[in-house]
Amino acid sequence: MKDAKELTREEAEKELAELAAKIAKADNAYYQNDAPDLTDAEYDALKHRNSAIEALFPDLVRADSPSKRVGSAVQSKFNKIEHRFPMLSLGDVFSIEEVDDFVLGVKRFLNTAENIDFMAEPKIDGLSFSARYENGVFVSGATRGDGVVGEDITENLKTIKQLPLTLPVDAPKIMEVRGEVYMAKRDFLALNEKNTAEKKKLFANPRNAAAGSLRQLDPKVTAERKLSLWAYTWGEVSERQWQTQEQFFDKLKAWGFPTNPLNKVCHTLTEIEENFKQMMNIRADLPYDIDGIVYKVNSIELQNRLGFLTRTPRWAIAHKFPAEQAITRINDIRIQVGRTGALTPVADLEPVNVGGVLVSHATLHNEDEIKRKDFRIGDMVVVQRAGDVIPQVVEVKLDKRPANSKPYEFPTVCPECGAHAIREEDEAIRRCTGGLTCPAQAKERLKHFVSKDAFDIVGLGDKVIEEFFDDGILHSPADIFTLEERNGSTAPMLDLFAAVDSGLHIERRQGWGKLSAEKLFAAIKNRRQISMPRFIYALGIPQVGSATALLLAKNYNTFDNLQADMCARETAKLVTIDGIGAEMAKDIVEFFGEEHNLKVIENLRKYVTVEDYVNEEITDSPLSGKTVVFTGTLEKLTRAEAKSLAQKFGAKVAGSVSNHTDYVIVGANAGSKAKKAAELGIKTLSEDEFAEMVK
Ligand code: IVH
Repeated sequence: MKDAKELTREEAEKELAELAAKIAKADNAYYQNDAPDLTDAEYDALKHRNSAIEALFPDLVRADSPSKRVGSAVQSKFNKIEHRFPMLSLGDVFSIEEVDDFVLGVKRFLNTAENIDFMAEPKIDGLSFSARYENGVFVSGATRGDGVVGEDITENLKTIKQLPLTLPVDAPKIMEVRGEVYMAKRDFLALNEKNTAEKKKLFANPRNAAAGSLRQLDPKVTAERKLSLWAYTWGEVSERQWQTQEQFFDKLKAWGFPTNPLNKVCHTLTEIEENFKQMMNIRADLPYDIDGIVYKVNSIELQNRLGFLTRTPRWAIAHKFPAEQAITRINDIRIQVGRTGALTPVADLEPVNVGGVLVSHATLHNEDEIKRKDFRIGDMVVVQRAGDVIPQVVEVKLDKRPANSKPYEFPTVCPECGAHAIREEDEAIRRCTGGLTCPAQAKERLKHFVSKDAFDIVGLGDKVIEEFFDDGILHSPADIFTLEERNGSTAPMLDLFAAVDSGLHIERRQGWGKLSAEKLFAAIKNRRQISMPRFIYALGIPQVGSATALLLAKNYNTFDNLQADMCARETAKLVTIDGIGAEMAKDIVEFFGEEHNLKVIENLRKYVTVEDYVNEEITDSPLSGKTVVFTGTLEKLTRAEAKSLAQKFGAKVAGSVSNHTDYVIVGANAGSKAKKAAELGIKTLSEDEFAEMVK
């Protein structure tokens, strides 16, 4: 073999191509087929030669060069990547009956009695990624993040040898391939063994190990960990070259992505059920963790017609495996007080391993559940864990009950503040009546206020909130924004001025320093301007989650509008919003009816600017910004399909006709709503006229 220095340009180019192919083949044999075709020394020699040639001809370094697979520079924090198409999650079901309901729902939506094929895919218990290719070259990779914005893990992904760095010329010019990064069980055990030997932190399960390895600021660490991946869906695509999920898998395979060989098209519910049972049987023997089966409508055309709910597609669902169980003892029963004063009983357990995770607490749900199942302190019980949900106690082993045990008596006063804890009629939950004077409620509200989907203030974790509250530093949300001012200077105090320095000096607290205190203040300052949905969600109105907060923002546009209507108890608009029911409307109005809540809002707004919500306009659509109501039976579209089309074209869909309505779409046999539209002089549209608007 010629010395690298003696190679001509042409020879170098040719050899680099050969080396890339050889190394890719070796990687494939090693990582995909688990059957190395080269010795370590041979492999290293190839990589070495590749680097030597690249060093001499830097402009010949290939996009898919093997040298690009080792982690490069260390980053101080992850950059953000906004997903062009959100990365959604899936709805969960736990029984074949619910899968049947899902299939029926799909058919109803599409208004068809015809059979629909589903792709059944093992649900990999890892973390999802999105890999973007432009003109056939891998350009960036991201984690799911909150589904809208993820973290830039481009360099980390490159270290996973299964990920192709280039695509063939006939692949779409823009192609985002998405899938799951996971750690095989064997690699997880080996990593924990190594960490034990090195007295390092152990991972609770392969999923955490995969997440901890991929989300490494230093990609070299990622490179050392054995990560694998399966590809299963796509994001942005310039030209879709497949008509079914099945054909998509064929494409992925052709482009060199690993696709799970257990993915299978099912034609009937019986096939779905059989496949599920079979997967459950082989689950423990698979080299990687799966936690269920995902079903996707195979036809992409039908997927597109079905569209999406707020966070999940209508065309796919996850069928989870039954929970994993173990037996242990209840050492104590504690009562936790939540944000809305709800008292939740929690069992302190003798720690037990449930499906690979150490469990020492579990929920007992509520007072009635304890009574019904007669859970007592000292009982041996069955504990179960299903996916990410909080472990729960499901059953008592009565034959193991200690002789002297007594039934558990649920407290009627709040264990945190001593106020009466009462149960409204037809409510399963007992609540503390202490409101914000109850420290537990006040703390939980603060925790919610700073949580990820609310103000998202990094540095104010649960523990810090607890401590700051207990030490009188924080009482109500607005206090967060005066923290820096009250802190005093973070500069070291000169003895001379000690007597006049009355600041809080967070930087002098245990576990804090100048840098972390300043970081916290910066994080808080950053949130003095906040989006309307986040602000609404942060208030912690009972029943109002992120999705509802977004609906409110979309319909009221400014916080002042919302507050004015709510304070006037003006609910005409509120109750017509699709997705807000009577119970929720009642909770929202009640929230704004309480003086102390208004005080919290008023104080907050001294420091915080709430951005107005600008509705995303599909400006060329005649429906954008309009409020529409459907009535009567539509002929060509199902009601659900029509509704989602209207929303797609920028309309809000209301359930009843009011002065806020712009159009009423009238189908056959329309009744009172059509009449009301006529009375109010609101424009009515036929189904065909509507169809024209959403073309
Ligand atoms: S499809 C819109 N397919 O499950 C469809 N997801 O609960 C989005 N997952 O965030 C996902 N295996 O991390 C899909 N074969 C599979 C999957 C899968 C695992 C994960 C993924 C996703 C979560 C949804």
